[in-house]
Amino acid sequence: MRLTLQDRLFVLTGAGISAESGLATFRGSGGLWNGYRVEEVATPEAWEADPELVWRFYSMRRRDALAAQPNAAHLALARIEDKLGDRFYLCTQNVDDLHERAGSRRIHHMHGTLFQSRCVRCNKPFPDQSFYETLDLPTCKTCASPIRPHIVWFGEIPLNMDAIYRELDRATTLLVVGTSGSVYPAAGFVDIANRRGIRTIYIGPEEPLNTHAFDDIILSLATQALPSMIELVP
Ligand code: OAD
Repeated sequence: MRLTLQDRLFVLTGAGISAESGLATFRGSGGLWNGYRVEEVATPEAWEADPELVWRFYSMRRRDALAAQPNAAHLALARIEDKLGDRFYLCTQNVDDLHERAGSRRIHHMHGTLFQSRCVRCNKPFPDQSFYETLDLPTCKTCASPIRPHIVWFGEIPLNMDAIYRELDRATTLLVVGTSGSVYPAAGFVDIANRRGIRTIYIGPEEPLNTHAFDDIILSLATQALPSMIELVP
């Protein structure tokens, strides 16, 4: 992936980039948590039926993310951003904060963030690192409505898609790292890139479901492939 001074890089990351930091991927763990399918705890229906179960799931994920450290792949993307400045845009499906802790700044969490919560009524996200693992669930100080994780669940619309499409529209290269290509709209970004005729690259140890759509597939762990790309960026 040699870039020129005119290039704009759009990076899409998925659970695979945090795998080597010890955070389980969705499909890798069989999509299971305590015997529940992820779809059973990450949906508005699950929240309606059992908010305590949903909060236990996200409390556990907060715990895991707090214990994890950014790896060489997160750090490499931050170095690439240092070189490209505002010609770099990172869109992640991940809700952990490892990209930020590695130094990434131009980053958008399209599926929300683990360390924010919001009132179901006021809808304003606020920073929150707490664990809610008992029946005593949090409520809004203003309106007393329940507080939920600031996460995009299945069936909900990802955050700020307009900004994402704007960035995709002016990118010259799409680099996708560690995502199985099974959840839309992110899995469709490569099709948008192809319609625009820009270069598309995938990095991961196995082919994603949408493998046919990429110009280049680099079958490699993110921590092995990304650091060597830093020097290819002018
Ligand atoms: P998946 O679990 O579906 O896919 C993870 C991908 O990472 C797989 O293709 C692996 O081959 C790859 N992978 C594993 N180890 C890797 C490594 N060391 N380096 C690079 N790649 C590696 O996770 P996502 O595609 O991110 O959505 O899942 C997409 C969405 O589905 C998630 O954001 C989440 C989930 O349900 C919501 O919660 C809304």
